[in-house]
Amino acid sequence: MITLDLSYQTAVVTGGKSGIGRGIVQILLQSGARVISADLAYDEEYKGVDGQLFESRLDLSKSEDIERWSRLVLEQAGVPDIVVNCAGTSTMDYVIDSKLEDWEKVFSINSTGLYLVYKIFAKAMVDAEKPGRIIQIASQAGKNGYRAMGGYCASKHAVLGLTKVMAIELARNNILVNAVCPGIVETPMKHRERIEGGIIRGMTAEEIYAEDCSQVPLGRTAEVQDVANVVLFLASPLSSYMTGQAINVTGGMTMH
Ligand SMILES: NC(=O)c1ccc[n+]([C@@H]2O[C@H](COP(=O)([O-])OP(=O)(O)OC[C@H]3O[C@@H](n4cnc5c(N)ncnc54)[C@H](O)[C@@H]3O)[C@@H](O)[C@H]2O)c1
Repeated sequence: MITLDLSYQTAVVTGGKSGIGRGIVQILLQSGARVISADLAYDEEYKGVDGQLFESRLDLSKSEDIERWSRLVLEQAGVPDIVVNCAGTSTMDYVIDSKLEDWEKVFSINSTGLYLVYKIFAKAMVDAEKPGRIIQIASQAGKNGYRAMGGYCASKHAVLGLTKVMAIELARNNILVNAVCPGIVETPMKHRERIEGGIIRGMTAEEIYAEDCSQVPLGRTAEVQDVANVVLFLASPLSSYMTGQAINVTGGMTMH
């Protein structure tokens, strides 16, 4: 297990209940941080699980819910040192067959929701004159195009654009803003995408899994830990001279 010491640091992680977000929550807890995990799948507004972990219900697709939730988090936990935007979703269809409502749903969570969380917590950090780290979980889909993922790819390109602007604007406040671009990670979202993509392409989920592995130079898809390790590095003092970066964690699949 890899750990760095983040004792006395408070981290907010959206999408912390499942997949990559869950891995990030775990590694930050192991490093000693106090973690507020926020997710649509939690039942309670704000619940202490133990002295270190707090769970909080948030619907990132609704701006009024983000307002309510962020006020609550700032009241209960104060201004965080680390914010990780990991919640995300996808829909699958070729662009010419896709529905506007799917496009809007994906953008509302992956781009607009992330922007609002970003904005509220960055403002709180600036007002408190607190240095900090903001880490966006984007995707290699923010750099490339993938079939049947028009809305998702566009929403992740938006995240990388915003990351660069926020990095420049917040540099003087010593708030470092970076994005992580995972490749193919074994999570519930990826398993659903293989089933939905398989229907569109006339393939089984197993065939798509084999295709996925064949496209990765390292020869395997990622586990959530592979991504969480890089988030931990970005959250730690080891990344003190990095901002505005979009770091690939793709097993070599994306190199730009
Ligand atoms: N799995 C991959 O291959 C992969 C690759 C690149 C990037 N990503 C990105 O990583 C992030 C996490 O994806 P994952 O694969 O772990 O997916 P996941 O489905 O396992 O987890 C996503 C989490 O986000 C939460 N969520 C969804 N909608 C929400 C909303 N409206 N409000 C609050 N929370 C909401 C879900 O409840 C879930 O806990 C996403 O941003 C995704 O785009 C995933």
